Amino acid sequence: MGWIVVVSGGPGGPEYITEIARKKAQQAEVVIGSKAQIEAVKPEPKQKVYIETGIDGIMELINQHRNKDTAVIVTGDAGIYSLCQRIIDRFGKVAVKEVVPGISSLQVAFARIKEPWLNVRVFSFHGRPLEGLEDVLKHERVAILCDREHNSKVILRKLMDYGLFDGKREIYVCQELTLPEERIIKIGSIEDVELIEVKGREIVVILSIKD
Ligand SMILES: C[S@@+](CC[C@H](N)C(=O)[O-])C[C@H]1O[C@@H](n2cnc3c(N)ncnc32)[C@H](O)[C@@H]1O
Repeated sequence: MGWIVVVSGGPGGPEYITEIARKKAQQAEVVIGSKAQIEAVKPEPKQKVYIETGIDGIMELINQHRNKDTAVIVTGDAGIYSLCQRIIDRFGKVAVKEVVPGISSLQVAFARIKEPWLNVRVFSFHGRPLEGLEDVLKHERVAILCDREHNSKVILRKLMDYGLFDGKREIYVCQELTLPEERIIKIGSIEDVELIEVKGREIVVILSIKD
């Protein structure tokens, strides 16, 4: 019988964590998450709480609590580029009692720019090398998950080498979604790219425009 509950914690804003996710996290004996995620969940006093964001540290805590119901809060939705897959790879599906779905940062990005996220090809350079970046512009609707090193400016500068501004495209940088510092920046030129003030959490959206 599994002991891990993977709880989708939403993109950051406490209003964007679902009621069921909060409840499932509160019902576990052990809760693991970032400081902000733990604060959003409001754990019960009887729960054992661990503030941990490093992958190795989280895996170790899960391993140490095999005899306890353990909730692991992951960013956004567990189903896209989350720790959930790593947990399953390490402990197997049998170890996972439940995966609680949630709101992804991608859903929020597309809601903010008032576009459907149908047929969107998602690339992630979060903690990964920029391999395959040249393929991005082959797709009509693209979302790119960034990180501090591979931030929106670095990625857009590189995409300019591959002809970013050659075709008709709508380009957005979506920063710190659902948080007080949230910004949606529309990019139309090289100057706009140079003016970006990069943030820790960013998604770049590129949409081809048909004539
Ligand atoms: C490891 S991925 C996790 C994606 C997550 N599973 C989801 O559904 O949103 C982390 C990346 O998601 C994006 N992201 C997560 N939260 C975000 C936010 N509040 N605003 C903008 N981008 C965010 C960033 O690109 C970040 O580097």
